[in-house]
Amino acid sequence: MIIPTVEEAERELELARTLNPTPWVDHSRYVALAAKAIAARHPTLDADTGYVYGLLHDIGRREGWTDMRHALDGYTYMKNLGYESVAKICLTHSFPMEDDRRAETQPGQWDCSEAELAIVNDFMSRVVFDDYDRLLQLCDALGLSTGFCILEKRFVDIVLRYGFNDATIPRWKAFLELQAYFEQAIDCSIYSLLDGIAESTFGVAKA
Ligand SMILES: [Fe+2]
Repeated sequence: MIIPTVEEAERELELARTLNPTPWVDHSRYVALAAKAIAARHPTLDADTGYVYGLLHDIGRREGWTDMRHALDGYTYMKNLGYESVAKICLTHSFPMEDDRRAETQPGQWDCSEAELAIVNDFMSRVVFDDYDRLLQLCDALGLSTGFCILEKRFVDIVLRYGFNDATIPRWKAFLELQAYFEQAIDCSIYSLLDGIAESTFGVAKA
């Protein structure tokens, strides 16, 4: 598995910031910090690998403001650079339900062509998830652009922005199962590892 170094990933993210200077970059940084913190306590995951995946999971946003096509754009960009495992994360991070990977389960819109959507569905029907895929699915829901956030607050935020669909409740359950899965592996609450989460979730100043 070839992945960029932390320094290379930082450079990619900052280059992408110049192309699309919106809050997604800071979101990516918090996702990376969460992935690093959880991986560091995990018996088999590597902290720097989690961090690099976090920095680059939304790299498709370098192409400008898009909805779900950012996942495909990130996949294509990383694949062309030779980073297959990062490319995989760019797509899988949006699919927390391992047993239901249909593109239409997303709260967002697939703003791409039928042919491109077929590429997504074909890839997702064949890909085998590993614990990095699962880690980034979880951490994507823990990172805002301003800090960390408990899952339940994030759930409400997404529904307020996109509305409910048939997959909303199954997705919530999938995120909670991911939380339990990693908490069993690291033997502590994920929230205990996320600096400042109380302040960023509840909007209170640090004492
Ligand atoms: Fe993300």
